[in-house]
This record gives sequence, structure tokens and C-alpha cells, in this order.
Amino acid sequence: MATPIILDCDPGHDDALAIVLAAAHPAVRLLAISTVAGNQTLDKTTRNARRICDVAGIAGVPIVAGRAKPLRGNQIVAADVHGESGLDGPGFGPPVTPVTSTDGVGYLRDLLRGRAEQVTVVATGPLTNVAALLLAAPDVAAMIERVVFMGGSTEQGNVTPCAEFNVYADPEAADIVLHSGIPVTMVGLNVTHQALADEAVQRRIAAIGSPLARVCVELLDFFAGTYHDIWGFPAPPLHDPIAVALLAEPDVVGTTRTRLDIELTGTFTRGATVVDLYERTGRPPNADVAVRLDTERFWDMVVRAVATLST
Ligand code: RIB
Ligand code: CA
Repeated sequence: MATPIILDCDPGHDDALAIVLAAAHPAVRLLAISTVAGNQTLDKTTRNARRICDVAGIAGVPIVAGRAKPLRGNQIVAADVHGESGLDGPGFGPPVTPVTSTDGVGYLRDLLRGRAEQVTVVATGPLTNVAALLLAAPDVAAMIERVVFMGGSTEQGNVTPCAEFNVYADPEAADIVLHSGIPVTMVGLNVTHQALADEAVQRRIAAIGSPLARVCVELLDFFAGTYHDIWGFPAPPLHDPIAVALLAEPDVVGTTRTRLDIELTGTFTRGATVVDLYERTGRPPNADVAVRLDTERFWDMVVRAVATLST
């Protein structure tokens, strides 16, 4: 039985592959794609979600636009990583896939209220939409089986020494989701940095030979350049699809039950995910945190997903 999910994202190069994996994997049923400001402004992340659905031939999955800025503080984007469009690299034509709603939070509220079974929310951008949904309609928490989010880290950050981009962009939102009572799984940089889309991976995708495969390779080529220039990576880490992979084939990603807190006030540490792996705080565990990745199986999933949507 496929797991019904809502994918909340900020496309974004790695979000694009998360959309592809969520649409292609038989163990996942993609109910809706909601977009949020993050890697780029909301208008750009929404346009990019449309573009990916166009080139991947993903039809019948509503794209809904959520929040344009964080719950608190200033909006940040990652143009240095994802480019001015948020999906630099390939040349895209004007998007065709429609936007079903520009009130994405309201759309998700109604979707969840109208369901008999619970839904898993996979968030691969800042958690603004998910937090706003829970603040506006607390009743829908009962319809959310789990929130799996790509964000945070048990180690270093990326946008600051302590904070990872998605959590740093809206730490209050992450804190609200974490304390909502909904089971939470964090897929952080400590794991996603193991998923480097190197030349061998890019060759496997290129060999599929479809327009989607070509776009994916062009995305990875651009992503490789920014990740090398900014952080000196030999290949780009494909963060977001791992959150989907964890749902689709749970044994691909190992997790541990532990204590997770979000730093909201630190001068140098705001947005840090404080993970008490050694149980030093005595605070009760409240999250499942990814600590291991079967990288080979993960890449097989990604390549297979691109091939599946290329037929
Ligand atoms: O820190 C990496 C995360 O921030 C990824 O989700 C990437 O797409 C950006 O949103
Ligand atoms: Ca993202």
C-alpha cells in the first residue's frame, strides 16, 4: 500500500529530484506539491515546481503556493547555490503545469480535513508552510502521520557554522513543528553529505537519454559548480530526495530516537539543531534523526525514478 504524502518544497536543484522520486516510486503516492520560499522567492520556487512537473510529465498532482516569507525575521534565499532562477543550469521554456491554488496552506488544510487516512508530510524546504498550517488549523495535526524534513544536522551547518539552511531560514517554524505532537524525523546534513552526485551517478542518469535525464544532468552540473565554489565539495550532495527515500524504502536510511531542540536565540547559533546523541541533557527523546544512508541503494532509487518518468 503506497504511503500518501504531501511534498512541501522550495525547488531548488535537489528538491527537483525529490519531486521526481516522489512521483515515480511505487511505495509513495504524491497527493500534492506545496511550495514555500526558501532557495528562492515563492514565485520562483513555484514556477520551478511547475517546470519540473512539465519536463517529468507529472500530471494530476496539484501544485499549491504557500508562504512567501518566514514566520519571523527576514527572508533569506540561496541564489549563490541555486542561481537567480532557483533552478539554474537547464534552459526551460515557460511553465505549463498550472498552479492549483495560491493559498497553499488553506489548500493543505482542506485536503487533510477531507481525508479518512493520515498523510505523511515530507518537507524539503523551510518549515514555514507546515508551521503556518498547524497554527491556522490545529485540528489537522491528527491527520498527519509524520513530518519527515530535510534540514538541520547533528554536526556542522552550511549557511552558518552551526545552522543548516532550511532550519536557519525559519527556525520558529521548525520549533513549532517539532513541538506539535506529530512524530518528526529529521534528515540532516550529517547524512545528506554522504549522497554526492559524482561523475558516475551523473553518467548513469545521462545514459537514460531522455529529456528529463538531460535536465537532471544539467541541474547536477550547475549544482556541482556552486557546491565546489562555496564549500569545496568534489560533487554536489543531493539532500532532499533522501527524505523521500526514507519513506519509500525505510531501510535505506537508518535513524536513531533522540533529543532534538532548535536554537532560536543564540547570537552565533540561531537555527542550530541541537541533537543530544549522547543523552547528556536528560531531556526525553522527541525525534527520529537520520544517522546512516545506504548510498548505493539510494542512487539506484534515484536513477530508477528518472528512468521510470522517462518512459
Ligand atoms: O541545506 C540544504 C537544504 O536547503 C536543501 O533542502 C536545499 O534544497 C535547500 O533548501
Ligand atoms: Ca530544498
